[in-house]
Amino acid sequence: MHRATYLVLLLSFVPGILSVKEPQNSSCRCLAFDHDCWPSSRVWNSFNTSVEGRLIRVLPPAAPCHDPFFDEQGCKEVQESWELEFWRTSHPGALYASNFESLGDQHRCSLASNRSSTCFQGAVPVYAVSVLDPLQVISAVKFASRYNLRLVVRTSGHDPTGRSTAPGSFAIWLHHLKSITFHESFVPEGYCPDKNSPPLGKIPAVTIGAGVQWEELYAATHERNSVITGGACSSVGAAGGFPQGGGHSLLSPMFGLAADNILQYEIVTAGGELLVANDWQNQELFWALRGGGGGTFGVVVSATYRTHPALESLAFALYNFTATTVNASNPMGKLVKKFVQISPELSDAGWSGNFFLSSRSLVLVYLLPNKNVSFANETLTPLTTYAEHQPGMVLETSLLAFSSFQEWHLAVQCGGQPSCITFTRRSQLRFPGASSLIPRKVFTDCPTKISRALMKITNTPFSITGVSNLGGDVARPRNNAVNPALRSALWHIILATNTNDNTTQAEYEKFARQITHANKLLPGSGAYMNEADFNEPNWQQSFFGENYPRLLDIKDKYDPTGLFVCHQCVGSEKWSNDLNCKLK
Ligand SMILES: Cc1cc2nc3c(=O)[nH]c(=O)nc-3n(C[C@H](O)[C@H](O)[C@H](O)COP(=O)(O)OP(=O)(O)OC[C@H]3O[C@@H](n4cnc5c(N)ncnc54)[C@H](O)[C@@H]3O)c2cc1C
Ligand SMILES: *[C@@H]1O[C@H](CO)[C@@H](O)[C@H](O)[C@H]1NC(C)=O
Ligand SMILES: *[C@@H]1O[C@H](CO)[C@@H](O)[C@H](O)[C@H]1NC(C)=O
Ligand SMILES: *[C@@H]1O[C@H](CO)[C@@H](O)[C@H](O)[C@H]1NC(C)=O
Ligand SMILES: *[C@@H]1O[C@H](CO)[C@@H](O)[C@H](O)[C@H]1NC(C)=O
Ligand SMILES: *[C@@H]1O[C@H](CO)[C@@H](O)[C@H](O)[C@H]1NC(C)=O
Ligand SMILES: *[C@@H]1O[C@H](CO)[C@@H](O)[C@H](O)[C@H]1NC(C)=O
Ligand SMILES: *[C@@H]1O[C@H](CO)[C@@H](O)[C@H](O)[C@H]1NC(C)=O
Ligand SMILES: *[C@@H]1O[C@H](CO)[C@@H](O)[C@H](O)[C@H]1NC(C)=O
Repeated sequence: MHRATYLVLLLSFVPGILSVKEPQNSSCRCLAFDHDCWPSSRVWNSFNTSVEGRLIRVLPPAAPCHDPFFDEQGCKEVQESWELEFWRTSHPGALYASNFESLGDQHRCSLASNRSSTCFQGAVPVYAVSVLDPLQVISAVKFASRYNLRLVVRTSGHDPTGRSTAPGSFAIWLHHLKSITFHESFVPEGYCPDKNSPPLGKIPAVTIGAGVQWEELYAATHERNSVITGGACSSVGAAGGFPQGGGHSLLSPMFGLAADNILQYEIVTAGGELLVANDWQNQELFWALRGGGGGTFGVVVSATYRTHPALESLAFALYNFTATTVNASNPMGKLVKKFVQISPELSDAGWSGNFFLSSRSLVLVYLLPNKNVSFANETLTPLTTYAEHQPGMVLETSLLAFSSFQEWHLAVQCGGQPSCITFTRRSQLRFPGASSLIPRKVFTDCPTKISRALMKITNTPFSITGVSNLGGDVARPRNNAVNPALRSALWHIILATNTNDNTTQAEYEKFARQITHANKLLPGSGAYMNEADFNEPNWQQSFFGENYPRLLDIKDKYDPTGLFVCHQCVGSEKWSNDLNCKLK
């Protein structure tokens, strides 16, 4: 009886999938339970043996709250953990942008609905291999290729455009590859200097398994008296989509993007080969894996990052500018213009951080490494003085010194807890979202273009988050595939929607249309692929710029059949919208 319901449930989402696919078409992927091509349970079992029992049948995260999977304790745990980021990243079916777990309003597994309402598989992968070593990755890649499965590569599931899931798919899940190995002096594999090569020098570094998250790496590097170019959100994976798409860090103005700090990758290609890519071998693949995007060139199983000496100190500013009126004197608009005007100087002084803007408030959460509080205070004086003399403006400031990045991270980002793992909840930063990279040149030539557009957007339903982690060392050119627009930008503006589990598909689509429109108001040049609009117009240019043709060549060379496909990833224009059928 139990078994029968289980089967009904599995099959209940098949029509939704078949309707988006032409079954007999060999140029289309084989999706779950398509009886013409889907591997039999005997085949799955023998595959499971070949990956040492690491195959899992993935259920949507709310499954324990529904029959036939109902489990009182399990359901309670799900309810309590639902918003916790680290719980989401340790579940093979959960995503940060949870709307991508569903297929429309119907095919979903809702936490809010009752026990007897059906839990649909939605867009959650059906099977996953929770890999523990590169050999299992090789087996999984070969299996997916042999059976023409829709393959998904996932680490943390943080991608905001659903790249790490697909309906009816088979996933390689890297979360449990957790090794961390430090090197006092790293020598890239295959390093072979000739008489003209400059000396390698002593390069402190760390090699991590693909499942390591920033929280773990922050703690480990701190213990080694080092820092690393990690993300603001410490539940993001350190070796997956983050560095492959660029990776901006609060320390980027000092040390460059995450991609700029990668010294070596180990990667399993579409052909099932384990390659080492660095400056000495497989150089073009190495070039592409630093900016060309995750989920595109293969499955990265490890990454080696350059580490940097610990900070001596840092200054932290939490400034809150509030307008008491939004009348025609427009105090907030004027303040934002001033903020735009001094931002090149703030960048030159070494500041990084985020800001949050609404019609009545501008909150700066800014960081200044290796500088004291009085210097920090001085550099912000033009803005505070301006605000103090502005009628209708109230200012609260807090300027603190920290002795290390980790001390700051735990105090500020983890709310004073000993780790972010049980603390971090999903923020209001939800999707659909959009990204605009604002070139430094616009700040100096036409600051009102930026401030006026921002103020216009404060009248839309979208939140505005500014990322000021660019400039400084990010602007230094490197030989990798990082979007050239990231090099010339000073700000990355993220627009986002305050959606939740009850947002309907129709509402999502409405917001999605509006957000693309709102984003066009900004004088951006390019967008950051990892935090971008699902409907980014002309994404090849926005995300990759002049690197696109070369990236496409490398994609075709390393993955000629397109085993790895993802939304707005290099080469994806050769596939149908659902990425299941190759276009002629
Ligand atoms: C709350 C939040 C905060 C963020 N903060 C920052 C930030 O501070 N700086 C920043 O730059 N970005 C930030 N991001 C964006 C982040 O870089 C992207 O979400 C990124 O895609 C996450 O990579 P992942 O591998 O952890 O996630 P996943 O969703 O698992 O994967 C993302 C993409 O990479 C592919 N992929 C994953 N692992 C591998 C692998 N091992 N080999 C090959 N391909 C792989 C997937 O197929 C997918 O296409 C943030 C996102 C969120 C939701
Ligand atoms: C794979 O094998 C392991 C070990 O035998 C088992 O626990 C697991 O349930 C199997 N996976 C599937 C999907 O059958
Ligand atoms: C559960 O929800 C379904 C669908 O909304 C509804 O038809 C049913 O009556 C509900 N059952 C209970 C016991 O509340
Ligand atoms: C900023 O100040 C306003 C008004 O006092 C307050 O409502 C808001 O919570 C403050 N924000 C932060 C992040 O401190
Ligand atoms: C706007 O409001 C401020 C503060 O209340 C006031 O001083 C100013 O005169 C007003 N300006 C206009 C144009 O209404
Ligand atoms: C703070 O830093 C500035 C510039 O880096 C330096 O000139 C000044 O002496 C420092 N002040 C203190 C109190 O250390
Ligand atoms: C910053 O400088 C102002 C004067 O310009 C002073 O009033 C204030 O106390 C200083 N703040 C800190 C934290 O040093
Ligand atoms: C969604 O709706 C359900 C039922 O109406 C409610 O219990 C829940 O709190 C809502 N969730 C959110 C995030 O608003
Ligand atoms: C699938 O095959 C049919 C003919 O059998 C063809 O007309 C159609 O274009 C194919 N679809 C795709 C997406 O390749």
